[in-house]
Amino acid sequence: MRMLFLVPLLVAVPAIAFPLPQREVARIVSSSWANEDSRDRAGEAAQVIRLLGIGPGQTVADIGAGSGYYTVRVSPVVGPRGKVIAQDIVPSYVAKLRTRVRRAGLKNVTFVLGSPVDPRLPPRSVDTALLIHMYHEIAQPYDLLYKLRASLKPGGRIAVVDLDRPTDSHGMPKALLVCEVKAVGYDLVSIADLKPGYLAIFRPGPTVDPATVKACRA
Ligand SMILES: C[S@@+](CC[C@H](N)C(=O)[O-])C[C@H]1O[C@@H](n2cnc3c(N)ncnc32)[C@H](O)[C@@H]1O
Repeated sequence: MRMLFLVPLLVAVPAIAFPLPQREVARIVSSSWANEDSRDRAGEAAQVIRLLGIGPGQTVADIGAGSGYYTVRVSPVVGPRGKVIAQDIVPSYVAKLRTRVRRAGLKNVTFVLGSPVDPRLPPRSVDTALLIHMYHEIAQPYDLLYKLRASLKPGGRIAVVDLDRPTDSHGMPKALLVCEVKAVGYDLVSIADLKPGYLAIFRPGPTVDPATVKACRA
């Protein structure tokens, strides 16, 4: 006698297909951009925190937190009423950062393991998303930025710090960054020069239809 199997009817929901970047994507090679003491001597974090007006009570997502240079410096600035969400896509980096944060006694830091296409942050939870010395490593920036938008509070923004040089040299040319971020519906607020590099701030603009997003050319 033949067995009858009930085959569940699978309804395929097409995923939104964002274009891939039309440029090199830098490989992930390290959990930190540079030596922390030299960054402090150059006043990097203090300058970025000041330019962004980060202060008590805010929620800051450190996307691509790596070894946590920004996480541990922003945590005391946002204080007990604020929060840092330390996020990365490399499980061992997140695990090490968890240990660092625990040892430092920081109580306002939570951790998220993201994916290359999705930061996996809670919706409408973030005042400022930091993407510091990591944008050039995002394999699918259009997809990731589109999903990141959903995690921003009303009035929230994203802040990119990078070097103005080709992505295969672990930088991100300014004009290309602005093109890519605007392509998924953000407006440029400002770009300030840092020493070295730049800080670019964007806010969500009118929503774009994902099907219309075209990749920018280097
Ligand atoms: C050069 S490190 C910079 C770490 C830190 N932001 C800093 O300023 O020192 C780049 C980090 O970005 C992470 N990364 C790369 N692609 C990512 C993605 N799509 N989403 C989140 N993190 C990513 C890497 O795992 C790495 O920890």
